[in-house]
Amino acid sequence: MNERLTESPAWRALAEHSAEIRDVTILSLFSDEKRFERLSRRHEDLFLDFSKNRIQDKTLKLLFALARQADVEGWRDRMFAGEKINGTENRAVLHVALRNRSNRPILVDGKDVMPEVNAVLAKMRGFTDRVRSGAWTGFTGKRITDIVNIGIGGSDLGPVMVTEALRPYWQEGLRAHFVSNVDGTHLVETVKPLDPETTLFIVASKTFTTQETLMNARSARAWLLERLGGDARAVAKHFVAVSTASAEVAKFGIDTENMFPFWDWVGGRYSLWSAIGLSIATVIGMDRFEELLGGAHAIDEHFRTTPLEDNIPVILALLGVWYSNFHGAQTHAILPYDQYLHRFSAYFQQGDMESNGKRVDRQGRPITDYTTGPIVWGEPGTNGQHAFYQLLHQGTRLVPIDFLAPLESQNPIGEHHKVLLANCFAQSEALMRGKTEEQARAELQARGMPEDKIAALAPHKTFPGNRPSNTILFEKLTPRTLGKLVAIYEHKIFTQGIVWNIYSFDQWGVELGKELAKKIEPELVPGKDEGPPKHDPSTSGLINHYRAFL
Ligand code: F6P
Repeated sequence: MNERLTESPAWRALAEHSAEIRDVTILSLFSDEKRFERLSRRHEDLFLDFSKNRIQDKTLKLLFALARQADVEGWRDRMFAGEKINGTENRAVLHVALRNRSNRPILVDGKDVMPEVNAVLAKMRGFTDRVRSGAWTGFTGKRITDIVNIGIGGSDLGPVMVTEALRPYWQEGLRAHFVSNVDGTHLVETVKPLDPETTLFIVASKTFTTQETLMNARSARAWLLERLGGDARAVAKHFVAVSTASAEVAKFGIDTENMFPFWDWVGGRYSLWSAIGLSIATVIGMDRFEELLGGAHAIDEHFRTTPLEDNIPVILALLGVWYSNFHGAQTHAILPYDQYLHRFSAYFQQGDMESNGKRVDRQGRPITDYTTGPIVWGEPGTNGQHAFYQLLHQGTRLVPIDFLAPLESQNPIGEHHKVLLANCFAQSEALMRGKTEEQARAELQARGMPEDKIAALAPHKTFPGNRPSNTILFEKLTPRTLGKLVAIYEHKIFTQGIVWNIYSFDQWGVELGKELAKKIEPELVPGKDEGPPKHDPSTSGLINHYRAFL
């Protein structure tokens, strides 16, 4: 695309239209009695209500025109066809192949990747079955009770999020733990209650060069050997690896027989569907893991074949563009009303921000006249209501929101679930409806408050309303449904990246800090002849502060 995005016909039409409807309230748009039916979509057990948005038919028409102008469909097809759409790394983007349950051939460099994908799934099944049945034992012959996944970023967040979400499906007597932070506290506190004889470490790293992961893995190995009498043969029974880099795995001392490979066309933050999901598959079992893949595949098919107008990820993506680029929204909140989804927003913080936090377009030009990926954040309801919802209701910022909730609880006790859902539905209503100053005044009058106090208090009790949200309801958080939810957000991110004309599948922005940390580390404890640190005064000052403390 040579034309600037902001000068393109579809963008200009949206800019004009946004001015046109600035004063239209969402509530007033419900004069159309069919709005809820028209602005909601279903996929199996999943239901999306996007009627509480500042959109009219014309808005949607223009947004879909923007998607077509950006050739979302063409890029989507190129992704599914295995083309190297990750331009800066010259790689295909094929997490969809990992869950391609149809086994339709997907070619990379002319070679069908499906046989390899299926072979790794079979290897995962063999391994997880053995651990779960007790056939795989530790060095002293005891059955494995605790799995510790050591990884970071995409090699941690997906496994953490999914295992937490699918806790009801864990095998009894088998627990999953996660160590990611290079802060020694994370490893020490995690292994403290564990028995080394019954603990299995999964070292998960695409590159097997990530500093945090290798350091944690080495310390875990030392912990294990120290407690099992120092025999190095114990490593083979207590360590397996998931990586694309077999040479690095062997260098670490893990038998490559116990290595589960994946490929450079799987991005770290899209890798939970690969062998990176080994910790998930171990605790929930391979059948359930394949149900998770099946759910994602169902959404892949939906995304691949459904016209944009009915395409759930595309709809969500375009609504995000609408608020980011035409209403100045800086953030996007994901608020699940399901405690099992308590890491869902954190997962998509990486998924979205590492993908679309880009400042240069695909032609290498700085992006100065529109914003790209929003800040993604969120916590489960109802906890968030008692923390940050104040700002959502009455703050000066516009925060578009996705509410997610199950119709059925995994833990139906008393009235809990009814109360949970009532809160979820009430929040989106309150955000949209607001409360006028007249209503606030009337309430205070009814309480018999004197007029001067009412005048002082009423503005503070007023809610502007007109704050948009989507609600995604699903029947129950099963592996299949979770797979669908994750895939919806993945394709949403993809679609937005295409609209913003950026590369969503690289992450060069994490490199600079890593490089500098490597430089600073030896400077912290200097040799005798080492002079003062050679950084800016602030960074050198911090290094000196630490040196003085030693
Ligand atoms: O944070 C940068 C990053 O490269 C992520 O994209 C990735 O998920 C993470 O580091 C871990 O990388 P690896 O799996 O190679 O250890």
